[in-house]
Amino acid sequence: MNRTAVLAPGLTTSESPFIEQAKHEGRLYIQQPYELYSDENHATWRKLYARMLPRWERYANEHFLEGIGRLCLDPERVPKLDEVNKFLRPLTGFQAKAVSGYIPAFLFFDCLRNREFPTTITIRRSDKLDYLPEPDIFHDIAGHVPMHTDKHFAETLVRFGECAHTAADLVSGIRDPETRIHFLTSIIRAMARFFWFTIEFGLMRGRDGLKVYGSGLLSSHGEIAHAIEAAEVQRYPIQLEWAINQAFEIDRYQPLLFIVDSFDHLFSLVDQLEGWLKAGKLNNVAPGEPGVNEEDLKSFLQRG
Ligand SMILES: [Fe+2]
Repeated sequence: MNRTAVLAPGLTTSESPFIEQAKHEGRLYIQQPYELYSDENHATWRKLYARMLPRWERYANEHFLEGIGRLCLDPERVPKLDEVNKFLRPLTGFQAKAVSGYIPAFLFFDCLRNREFPTTITIRRSDKLDYLPEPDIFHDIAGHVPMHTDKHFAETLVRFGECAHTAADLVSGIRDPETRIHFLTSIIRAMARFFWFTIEFGLMRGRDGLKVYGSGLLSSHGEIAHAIEAAEVQRYPIQLEWAINQAFEIDRYQPLLFIVDSFDHLFSLVDQLEGWLKAGKLNNVAPGEPGVNEEDLKSFLQRG
């Protein structure tokens, strides 16, 4: 093993000493230590990008394709967040913000409100291009960030982030601790489901038929095609009451996807979501996935 290899262990998902150290020290927000990416990490980016490009051209919505162009992503190397942000910030004010891992729900939504996108900096193993145990930089930068170049989409994310504040305000007024936790758990679950069925796995009707705008699909070589082509996938016009009550599983191709007409439509759904939140309609959504953990609850109760 040469000296460089010892000093540069790479920034590979679940195998990065740098990330382990940051988590150990309780640092959520970090810098991207670009010099730590190994040749293998860059090769993984190159392979992922090269095989996604034709699929994006075929299945992605036009705003995403424009976004990819406007960000000037390098197909050959893992992107530097600072450089991505140089192109992104003037367009919508959004920026990618490096994080060490999982961000509790309120903090995550609050970042969106501040036009910051918590961004994973590690990249998956080169021998596991399809298997993604957690988000990586390809999912976050190639899957999410191009959407943030679109003004309407960006405003929708900000609006969604504001809903987290509305929720925190509402539950802080509930006296009985048990009721407060019950309602808050349900509200977080409803918001997570909405996010999942739109921002992560949403489909949009376009001029040339159905296209993908959800980032979970945009970063998956297999599922992006499956979402549009497979006969067994159920695709329905989105109904808010359905989406917030619908459980989902994260470790399989999604059997049910929802379609929006436009980003204006998506924005209006977030308005509706907030209206329902204020009216108490999110206080008792159907139980089931996703789980809401202690950290998520605490983050709302303490607003941070
Ligand atoms: Fe994501």
